[in-house]
Amino acid sequence: MRSDYDREGAIASLRTERRARFDIVRSSVLAGPLVSELESLTKGRPALVVVSPTVERIYGHGLRSILVSGRRRNLVHLIQTGEKNKSLESVAELLEIANKFRLSRDAMFVGIGGGVLLDIVGFAASQFRRGTGHVKIGTTLLAQVDAAVSIKCGVNIGTSKNLAGAFHPPERVIVDGAFLRTVSERDIRCGLAEMVKLGVAADSGLFEGLVRSGRILLDSDARDSDPARELVDASIRGMVGELAENPFEHDLSRRVDLGHTISPALEAATGYKLPHGEAVAVDVALSAVISNRMGILDDMGLDSVLELFRGLGIGTWHRLLEDFALIEAALDDAEAHRGRRLRLPLPLAIGRTVFVDDREDLPPSLIRESVAQLREASE
Ligand SMILES: NC(=O)c1ccc[n+]([C@@H]2O[C@H](COP(=O)([O-])OP(=O)(O)OC[C@H]3O[C@@H](n4cnc5c(N)ncnc54)[C@H](O)[C@@H]3O)[C@@H](O)[C@H]2O)c1
Ligand SMILES: [Zn+2]
Repeated sequence: MRSDYDREGAIASLRTERRARFDIVRSSVLAGPLVSELESLTKGRPALVVVSPTVERIYGHGLRSILVSGRRRNLVHLIQTGEKNKSLESVAELLEIANKFRLSRDAMFVGIGGGVLLDIVGFAASQFRRGTGHVKIGTTLLAQVDAAVSIKCGVNIGTSKNLAGAFHPPERVIVDGAFLRTVSERDIRCGLAEMVKLGVAADSGLFEGLVRSGRILLDSDARDSDPARELVDASIRGMVGELAENPFEHDLSRRVDLGHTISPALEAATGYKLPHGEAVAVDVALSAVISNRMGILDDMGLDSVLELFRGLGIGTWHRLLEDFALIEAALDDAEAHRGRRLRLPLPLAIGRTVFVDDREDLPPSLIRESVAQLREASE
């Protein structure tokens, strides 16, 4: 931290730096090393381990026996998840628990769960005593390739997705492919949708990898095999590459925002019944069609995006796309979120993105025609 007088008229200026370096490591925590992993990280600091009901039901017994076998008993707490519970109330619940156990400022939150749980735990950690450390252990594909890697966390308020949130880098991210075995096919497809997003927006190598062997992740016995790990690791590295230059989003034109413009409105309008990954897939597909109609993405590029989704069994249509007011409102929200400019990422080619900054470049007729084309292409 540095304090100096570098602006005329200022009494003082203060520049702060946020520590934002952390490792993402593979570890077979389910097979036992969780405690030693945590102990090497916490070095005696108290830890509050937070799990979701599903993780508790499937892995709770093993995790508990691992966690209590350490020198120090870790506190384990269960919170309700599901997108509807990604709320300030859930964050408050965690803060109260942490306070009840008199967790100190140097304490650490450890989240073990899907993206929803990690978002709640990360946000609670960012708020508790104005910021405590946390470790993220994603248990779904989406969490492993996306939510855990990100330094963002947040919760929904009413129909506004991720309206409250923070940038709060974790101290470590641990990836254990063994968790993926029990994830439903539907949820695996949600993770695959985020991987396709990244491939289309920024990483043609990942896209090709998904074309070649993405389906391997649909086979529960193969999800922790070497080829599956390679794909997951490639996706994590791709995401890290995207975040590395712009972790705190000072540049609001982000390639990885592909698929995240209309999707929040779709999720909210279904009462959060439509899972995040499914909404993202629909948004990526619509963006590809819009791009094609604007003469940016060629026919071959559009076909390959739609074909990859089809090949992985990921839907690209939702009836709510025909609610034009919903799309307009989603674009309004995106503009507000992205600093009063649209900054809509559109694929230029596989792995390359352009941004449409102005609303005038996206006339209502173009959106309506694109929706109609996507509906036809998705049938
Ligand atoms: N912070 C970020 O940058 C970021 C990035 C991407 C997504 N997200 C958020 O992540 C959320 C979506 O995450 P998600 O797709 O993991 O959804 P999720 O957390 O709801 O998990 C999906 C389902 O899988 C279950 N589950 C979790 N682990 C399991 C396991 N090992 N075996 C069987 N079932 C398991 C959960 O109980 C849930 O029913 C959204 O809220 C999204 O906004 C955040
Ligand atoms: Zn997402």
